[in-house]
Amino acid sequence: MGEMVTRLSEEAARTMKVLYSEETLRNRVRELGEQITRDYDGRELVLVGVLKGSVPFMADLARSIDLPLTMDFLGLSSYGDGTETSGVVRFTSDLSQSVEGKHLLIVEDVVDSGLTMKFLLENLATRRPASVRLCSLLHKPARSRVQIPIDYLGFTLEGDPFVVGYGLDHAGKWRNLPYVGVVQH
Ligand code: IMP
Ligand code: MG
Repeated sequence: MGEMVTRLSEEAARTMKVLYSEETLRNRVRELGEQITRDYDGRELVLVGVLKGSVPFMADLARSIDLPLTMDFLGLSSYGDGTETSGVVRFTSDLSQSVEGKHLLIVEDVVDSGLTMKFLLENLATRRPASVRLCSLLHKPARSRVQIPIDYLGFTLEGDPFVVGYGLDHAGKWRNLPYVGVVQH
């Protein structure tokens, strides 16, 4: 307290171009939730959130799924120079429970090179779940280095924009922006 901190919305108004508005996100998340509700009817679903970027998306998605479900979280970090992943991924935190025999739906913010999800899918497979599917808010196909099947996808990003908001960060900031934006150069 004391020092001047600019309001996030004011800084965003100066530097950010809205890519997916709150309303656009809300409508698409609702559609994904309805699709997941139909597909998983009668099954025991576990949402597996990848910290920290998936948190706002997962909170909204879960409330759009009209099925009993449980939530768990894990953290992943890839060694790299900041914006480029090295593909060497490690757990920063792990799930709290066994997932053996469970139907897992991974919830991720963005699939970029795909290396993080390749690592996670291979790791989860060793834990003998009944099934594993992936739900990602965003995909950047232009940047993919490995093919990752995305079962439920919010939006496809054309080209290679670096986006923030609705969970996505730059150096830890912007995750609480209620829309997805791209920094204007
Ligand atoms: P991948 O292993 O290259 O697919 O990296 C995926 C991770 O990189 C995501 O989970 C994000 O944490 C981060 N990432 C990739 N692109 C962006 C972006 O445009 N904005 C914010 N984070 C990003
Ligand atoms: Mg992430």
